[in-house]
Amino acid sequence: MNQVGKGLASGKIILMGEHAVVYGKPAIALPFKQAMIETNIIKTENATEIDCIYFQGKLEQAPLVLDGIKNLIVNTLKFLERPNFGLSITIHSNLPAQRGLGSSAAVSVSIVRALFDVFEVTLQDFDLKDLVAHAERIHHINPSGLDVNVIAAGQAVLFQRDHAIQALNVAMDAILVVADTGSMGKTREAVKRVNTLFKKNPERISKGLERLETLTLDTLNFLSNNDIQGLGKSMSEAQQILSQFDISNPQLDTLITTALEAGALGAKITGSGMGGCMIALCSDVETSTTVSKALRQAGAKDLWTLDLKDVK
Ligand code: PMV
Repeated sequence: MNQVGKGLASGKIILMGEHAVVYGKPAIALPFKQAMIETNIIKTENATEIDCIYFQGKLEQAPLVLDGIKNLIVNTLKFLERPNFGLSITIHSNLPAQRGLGSSAAVSVSIVRALFDVFEVTLQDFDLKDLVAHAERIHHINPSGLDVNVIAAGQAVLFQRDHAIQALNVAMDAILVVADTGSMGKTREAVKRVNTLFKKNPERISKGLERLETLTLDTLNFLSNNDIQGLGKSMSEAQQILSQFDISNPQLDTLITTALEAGALGAKITGSGMGGCMIALCSDVETSTTVSKALRQAGAKDLWTLDLKDVK
């Protein structure tokens, strides 16, 4: 057994198809390696302890917000047939939590990887996804599984419930600017909100979901044909639909309008919405610099750029 176990995981960005993916439609997501989670685990003689931004202390005394993680650790140790091991678990993150960048799934993936590492057990992809999916069901109602799949794969994917995931080669001459509103996204609430609208007006919402499906499938073509104009237009149309689903908010709207006025080809929410992050597609580095500056002035709390030429 290793004395120290280590597990890494990146965040994720949903390029197209959030919310629709909950209803069985396809979605495209990219790994977001600018922000990572690292879990380190040391074997101890004492009760298992955890050190993360929310809590430092005995795992059994961890607050409600860590219920998913607590469950994940207990289940993983059971799976590994080491249920009573004393461990010191430290989680470092530069991935902001609850911003639509996949932090909850990334924390879970890094913990499972670190636990398997400390016990020197080979981790199968299927077991990783299964253990993490269980924790995700505690965080969210009815998670589609998109976050777990893209983060576990560590590469761009086309994901659809009950279908094999498809790895994508993204090599587009464009830069994606990611901006954080600084307010927390609300995945549970946003998914519930869309569901309530769906029940109230199934025809209208189904139409929106179908259009999002078409935009996602179009995006596959745009990615393979390096069609940045097409992708930009589709992103903005997707944003209109997501706004009709009532999951945008004034902060997101301001950042999206600002990015478009500063020269972005398209802009939209990424993730659940109701806070969190937006993404803007820019044709080159110069435009992405102008867009980033404008977004900062308009109140973005954090900014990153992702070169779509080289998504690995
Ligand atoms: O905001 P996030 O990172 O939790 O992403 C949510 C994506 C949704 O499609 C809204 C929900 C899901 O389960 O796929």
